[in-house]
Amino acid sequence: MTPAASRLIEKLRRQPVVRVLFICLGNICRSPAAEGVFRAVVESRGLEHAFEIDSAGIGDWHIGDLPDPRMRRHAAARGYGLTHHARQVKPYDFERFDIVIAMDDNNRSDLRRLAPTPDDEAKIVMMSEFFSPGTHSTYVPDPYYEGAEGFELVLDLLEDSCSRLCDALQ
Ligand code: 4NP
Repeated sequence: MTPAASRLIEKLRRQPVVRVLFICLGNICRSPAAEGVFRAVVESRGLEHAFEIDSAGIGDWHIGDLPDPRMRRHAAARGYGLTHHARQVKPYDFERFDIVIAMDDNNRSDLRRLAPTPDDEAKIVMMSEFFSPGTHSTYVPDPYYEGAEGFELVLDLLEDSCSRLCDALQ
């Protein structure tokens, strides 16, 4: 983990409740899946009281939409029901959340531009910070123009990283 991410995690470990926001481009594939997978990890560990969890997108194209039917289908096959309705991230989200987790570098650049203060900018981390050592991807790739394997890869990466994110914050 980068020193900046380690510092943030260390700070959050001392909080009774950590507010986690997952971000991708459209908020219909990767980030609602991350929200659903992380919620399942938290529930499986009986830690519902210790987290507030949400997701949002950089773009506004899909506001109000349920996750992409392909993402819902692949997630359901692994036991995750995705019921989030897409919304666009706003500067105020940096006040409402403690950690803002980007799926790829473009998401991170866009979030940095949106962050109202340097303290807010310090809340941005990459999902890949929590990938297991040896993982081939360095980000969570956009599956929107991909086939089934793209959606499966997203879920593989998120199951690994959400579990490790929860370990880190516990
Ligand atoms: P997501 O995938 O960022 O994982 O939700 C995308 C969904 C929609 C679009 C791009 C990416 N889009 O251009 O509409």
